[in-house]
Amino acid sequence: MAQPKTSWRIEPVGPLRGDVTVKGSKNAVSKHMVAALLGSTPSTVRNCPDIGEVPITAGMLRSLGAFVDVEGDTVRVDATRLTQADVPTQFSGLNRIPILMVGPLLHRMGEAFVPIVGGDQIGRRPLDYHVACLRAMGAEITMREDGLEAKASSLHGARLRLPFPSVGATETVLLTAVLAEGRTVLENAATEPEVIELALFLQRMGARIELRPDRRFIIEGGVGLIGAEHALAGDRIEAFSYLVAGLITGGRVRVFGCPQGRLVTAISTLHRMGARFEITDDYLVAEAAKGLGPSVVMTDTHPGFMTDWQSPLVVLFTQADGMSVVHETVFENRFTYVGALKAMGAEIELFDACLGGRDCRFHEMNERHSAVVHGPTKLRGAEITVPDIRGGFAYLIGAAAAEGETVLHDIHHIERGFHKAFDSLTDLGLKVERL
Ligand code: EPU
Repeated sequence: MAQPKTSWRIEPVGPLRGDVTVKGSKNAVSKHMVAALLGSTPSTVRNCPDIGEVPITAGMLRSLGAFVDVEGDTVRVDATRLTQADVPTQFSGLNRIPILMVGPLLHRMGEAFVPIVGGDQIGRRPLDYHVACLRAMGAEITMREDGLEAKASSLHGARLRLPFPSVGATETVLLTAVLAEGRTVLENAATEPEVIELALFLQRMGARIELRPDRRFIIEGGVGLIGAEHALAGDRIEAFSYLVAGLITGGRVRVFGCPQGRLVTAISTLHRMGARFEITDDYLVAEAAKGLGPSVVMTDTHPGFMTDWQSPLVVLFTQADGMSVVHETVFENRFTYVGALKAMGAEIELFDACLGGRDCRFHEMNERHSAVVHGPTKLRGAEITVPDIRGGFAYLIGAAAAEGETVLHDIHHIERGFHKAFDSLTDLGLKVERL
């Protein structure tokens, strides 16, 4: 399924000021839609973002025979009658969601085919943990060139341990174990807020899920589930990105809709750089009256500094006074956007060594996963093709702080993950034009 190619011209106008309201997170909305496959009655998800990810996932669910209604910010999924166990290959490579459908489809149909998953090209992103967990729960899996085929007459609980606390693999286990016969124990699970949100939604559907303090989920499966309702919590990646857009332009962006608790490490990192915050129950706003200083940051699993905050932070570092270091430990190839930032005038060097923090999994992998950023440097507008969601928004932030206009191509990447970004940026005063 081809994505529409659009481009934006951005003209910097100085400080960005105003209010932005973020909606529910991209990385939760589709998972809730998939969870709806497990209920014997329809489910309703509210406060959904208006992003490309939703119609992609809705299209996949519809192809299975589910009824999906998107009205405003509410998505209703009625999967009580499924007619197909195959997600068509036209959905190949569009997002990471197909693999999460395998467990629910096995429960509902006894078999499944899902096309090759996509998502941003930020590392190899294999599916080996998902496959190992599904097999341990009784699925027969065949990897095909065009996707993954699975069969299971029944699924059962298992004792599982993830080599790394993967968000997606934890979600695969949750979405499969809740209807599998018996107990599943998942060790070294991801505990990102979006994962917990999904677990709570499943609990609302009737699932027996326990979370122990040592990253361990215990799931008593086999209990029938019904549909549930939930209003998604605000997207912490968008919230951080807009806070940075305000800071980097010397402005002040008030971000509504994202609870402070989802941003603890983002706030403490910006505090260390010299930002001052005003935080209420309704909004957060950061300012840097005296400019910002450098910092050393390592991305990590929750509650560490999240990998999706990395690219806006790097752009902010280009305007901080001094040398900053970023060590990316979640994805081995998440600095591909840096080349274009350098073309805009940023001084950034990449290293394959683990700089800042402990040695990570990529220690001896010859992958450039650490960055040294020198600031402040003047950024110049440029013509850039957006590689992925987060890199794309980083260019938008850079463009807002640059001299001269920037043209960004392949905006559909940004629109897959950011709720009405064009309107939000325009409301903040940025001159953005659709080409
Ligand atoms: N991994 C494996 N094998 C697996 C699964 C994961 O080796 O079977 C590795 C990955 O290669 C990576 C690490 O484990 O090195 C973590 O990957 P994880 O599974 O946690 O990531 P994901 O589920 O594919 C989600 C988000 C990402 C976010 C990461 C980390 C969605 C749709 N995507 O990806 O979001 O960066 O968790 O928090 O939820 C984004 O929104 O821009 C984005 C990329």
